[in-house]
Amino acid sequence: MTRHFLEIDDLAPAELNEVLRMAEADLRPPVLAGRGVALIFEKPSARTRNATEVAVAQLGGHPVSIRGEEVGLDTREPAEDVARVLAGYHAAIGARVMDHASLERMTAALDAAAMEVPVFNLLSDRAHPCQALADLLTIRQRFGATEGVKVAYVGDANNVCRSLALGCLMAGAQVAVACPDGYGLDPAELPGVSTTSDPAEAASDADVVYTDVWTSMGQEAEEKARAAAFSGFQVDRALMAHASPKAIVMHCLPAHRGQEISADVVDGPQSLVWQQAANRLPAVRALLLFLLDSSRRAS
Ligand code: CP
Ligand code: NVA
Repeated sequence: MTRHFLEIDDLAPAELNEVLRMAEADLRPPVLAGRGVALIFEKPSARTRNATEVAVAQLGGHPVSIRGEEVGLDTREPAEDVARVLAGYHAAIGARVMDHASLERMTAALDAAAMEVPVFNLLSDRAHPCQALADLLTIRQRFGATEGVKVAYVGDANNVCRSLALGCLMAGAQVAVACPDGYGLDPAELPGVSTTSDPAEAASDADVVYTDVWTSMGQEAEEKARAAAFSGFQVDRALMAHASPKAIVMHCLPAHRGQEISADVVDGPQSLVWQQAANRLPAVRALLLFLLDSSRRAS
């Protein structure tokens, strides 16, 4: 069966470790020579589009980035049809979608048609697993391992939070999430995660303090209400005082200085955000190697 990557746990923990190891090893075999990779973007992107395009080129392939309105998922034609058409030209299909179900429908259509082209999630309303790969890579680079590292996520329990928390649990890290009431994780979804509405409690002795925007793409109408709900959840120097003195600060970016993170923290000595952003490239390159190798083994 074709391996798709819609959420980080589409990899088994040992496979996650293998992908991270490949990212560290900086492998670039030309597995995509003469082949294309389609990258659909229903939402804006700087890091994901650039990292993935360059990764495809480094593996010898040709990336084709497509704005959402060009293919019009479910407006110009059904998402299933778009997937089946693109599978005729490309070795893999990446997509950043408004609705996670679009990715599920694309993979189901390809599997039903026995089209062995992996689909990978470039961000949905539900998950951002390519980001989580880069995050785990960054944590490994800093601490030498992920096992036993305490990661505190402070803010909105969104796509980035969900994939990060899941990936950290798979990689043996401890996860504490602090969100305002009504914006937290469903405790049944990730039982291994400790949840609180007190940022200081989550950050206490943390090795990593992570945050993301309070208003994700697609939620712009809620911006005012969210700004009010998240007041008190800024990652600032006062919050960092609760963390381990050696703690690092992470943010998937784009960052909003003065909202979810203070300027002195995101631009300060504990911040690894530029290394984290750069790690999107080796992470997605290793993911492509894994998915393409799995597809070749299956076919
Ligand atoms: N972190 C991230 O996914 O950034 P972009 O939205 O710019 O791709
Ligand atoms: N949670 C953010 C992440 C952006 C990379 C969003 O979905 O907009």
